[in-house]
Amino acid sequence: MKILVADALADSGVAALSQFHDVDVKTGLSKDELVEVAPAYDAIVVRSATTIDADVIAAASRLKVIARAGVGLDNVDVEAATKAGVIVCNAPQSNIISAAEHTIAMIMALARNIPQANEALKAGRWERSKWNGTELHGKTLGVLGLGRIGTLVAQRANAFGMRLVAYDPFIAPERAGRMGVELRGTVEEVLREADVLTIHLPKTPETVGLLNAESLRTMKPTARIVNVARGGIIDEAALAEALAEGVVAGAAIDVFATEPTTESPLFGLSNVIVTPHLGASTEEAQDKAGTQVAESVNLALAGEFVPDAVNVQGGAIDDLIKPFLPLGEKLGRLYAVLAEGGFHGDVTVEFLGDIADADTRILGLSVLKGMLSTVVAEPVTFVNAPLLADERGLSLREVSDGHSEDYVSLVRVSGTTAEGRTLRVAGTTFQPGDRERLVEVWNTPLDVEPSDHMAFFRYDDRPGVIGTVGSAFGEAGVNIAAAQVGRREVGGEALMALSLDDAVPSGTIEHIVDRIGAHEGRAITLG
Ligand code: NAD
Ligand code: MLT
Repeated sequence: MKILVADALADSGVAALSQFHDVDVKTGLSKDELVEVAPAYDAIVVRSATTIDADVIAAASRLKVIARAGVGLDNVDVEAATKAGVIVCNAPQSNIISAAEHTIAMIMALARNIPQANEALKAGRWERSKWNGTELHGKTLGVLGLGRIGTLVAQRANAFGMRLVAYDPFIAPERAGRMGVELRGTVEEVLREADVLTIHLPKTPETVGLLNAESLRTMKPTARIVNVARGGIIDEAALAEALAEGVVAGAAIDVFATEPTTESPLFGLSNVIVTPHLGASTEEAQDKAGTQVAESVNLALAGEFVPDAVNVQGGAIDDLIKPFLPLGEKLGRLYAVLAEGGFHGDVTVEFLGDIADADTRILGLSVLKGMLSTVVAEPVTFVNAPLLADERGLSLREVSDGHSEDYVSLVRVSGTTAEGRTLRVAGTTFQPGDRERLVEVWNTPLDVEPSDHMAFFRYDDRPGVIGTVGSAFGEAGVNIAAAQVGRREVGGEALMALSLDDAVPSGTIEHIVDRIGAHEGRAITLG
């Protein structure tokens, strides 16, 4: 498949992608150029320079995945991608240490005027008294956003003996307390207390302009401000004015409302330190970002689940759940094919036994993906499955119950078909090797390993049927790999499940149904 790397990506990332796919590295494309080339690609990889908006996504008819080699996703229209069934993933852990260390470097440089003193001495000025600094020990660090990077910064500042206060309404006070951080209920409280304020928020409509002329005036005149998060969270013009007028003492800024930029009212001020978005610019972070997104893109293009996808419910997959994912999809397909007259409304997926304790959302999605893939023309992915289900009035009810009578873990899909009949299919996995088993089909218990091509018949239990079915498949040139019969009582309705080496030629099932007087017969491709 074809991958466009639209921003500079570490060589290790490009190499990992090139192992399996054709990779074009084309950086600095304008929006028009992107729209023009996008239809050729199955995956696009960006950092923060290139914007993948709804127009680019609409043009990219083959697109399966957009990967952001970094954290922030403000340059990707995640909503438009989700609607188009395109996976969006990032590398959330790749550069957090680098960004936290850059923040600490900015705080230290700001406290001791290192860039200014360095510049003066190199210019021939010995300005020892001019660049008197301030100690961090005993000072208050105010953290806005106590997520991954905010936490790493707080931990490091703790080692300097700083007092830590933070605002993050989405973090539990107990968790903050364990890190030695006192949570405050408002941004204003943190601004009032901070000797050094550090920002680690995402850029959202709520956070844009959070630090403005008014809020800056609530800070101490000795306060210093650091932003290694996103440009726009601080109003740059208001900050420049506050710094020039002594409303606050200093600022260290890595990110700007418009990037790249060489012009800002901040650049002319001696109490300001600036870097050109260097938070993630270390060899280690770029290497990690490159290899992490390459891994995600390779998974996405192989049709597998991407743990770092941001627009798929479920997040990282529990080890207990992993072997059930392909089985879930097969159960979904099986349910859909066996549902005479189709299916809609409520379908129940039960997670029974040990798996009930795990986060099963992705497994529910897997069942949904399997069901829809039999009825929807477009490719069904973990991303667009919920949307497609909604459009068809199909809703999946997920039930978890730690009790399972016969199996360690069991997944059962059940519902009422469009013709008003109850339909149940169920499966499990067995050790060794997490081997899949279908243990209930058409409401009848049995024990069969799913295979790529299968056929099922419901008929009245009586001697000679297996032989007749075997001959009929033989006449059609289809080899039977395995056959299993399940029934609830002798002479009652029986279920025959056949694993076949080849796809079933059209007309064969109808012919067999006639020959054995079956109530129903179905062929299904599960692979
Ligand atoms: P994160 O998602 O782990 O943490 C963000 C925190 O902000 C979360 O805990 C969340 O609860 C909190 N939050 C969200 N909205 C809030 C609001 N309105 N008010 C208060 N708290 C709110 O993110 P992270 O990985 O720590 O990244 C933090 C920022 O750093 C992001 O903007 C990211 O893009 C940026 N970043 C910059 C660089 C760089 O090179 N300068 C590198 C990496 C990340
Ligand atoms: C990020 O969001 O990961 C950082 O801003 C760094 C980058 O843009 O690559």
